[in-house]
Amino acid sequence: MKNIAVLASGRGSNLEAIIKNIKNGTLHANLACVISDREDANALAIARDAGYKALYLDPGPKKTWLLPEYEEKYVTTLQDHKIDLVCLSGFMRIIKQPLLTAFAGRILNIHPSLLPAFPGLEVQKKALEYGVKFSGCTVHFVDDTVDGGPIIAQAAVPILDDDDADTLAARILKEEHRIYTEAINLVLSGKYKIEGRRVIKTG
Ligand code: GAR
Repeated sequence: MKNIAVLASGRGSNLEAIIKNIKNGTLHANLACVISDREDANALAIARDAGYKALYLDPGPKKTWLLPEYEEKYVTTLQDHKIDLVCLSGFMRIIKQPLLTAFAGRILNIHPSLLPAFPGLEVQKKALEYGVKFSGCTVHFVDDTVDGGPIIAQAAVPILDDDDADTLAARILKEEHRIYTEAINLVLSGKYKIEGRRVIKTG
């Protein structure tokens, strides 16, 4: 069984879904550790309560990313746990060096829009304001662009006339919980190839 780590900054509902799907046998992975940049992240409490290793790692002085000497600690912690795949689940930091190189092609992120539409933050609000009729969620490889790496899985969610950012986010979240497991299984199986930006199943 391959080892995954979840990096999360907040609520942890995607982590909860990952744990549930490991326990019910639909996600074929060993959750070796959960790491947060916030000591008070609910995700750490979820991990601990479920019997998983939960670690807070000091993010340093920057608000949206980690200085290399702080990111290095993330790398060594992931390596110490023999992590095969890093799964960002609401980890609100831009990934840079040395993590990108140490885990090249082995970091996934989930994002609550149909990328490349609406990268960044508060994207459900942005989708509503723009007036799109569908939004959704995307699981993608992490590279040196923000929300820009090759796309592994997406799910579309219709936008209803009476939606607000919260109701839309809740319906998107349901799909996030489903497609993240599918994407992790695919990547861990190795049954895919990347042609240009396209992630194509081979199995
Ligand atoms: C999720 O909607 C996830 O897609 C989003 O944060 C939320 C975390 O929820 N991530 C991003 O916006 C990353 N750009 P959770 O903590 O309940 O899993």
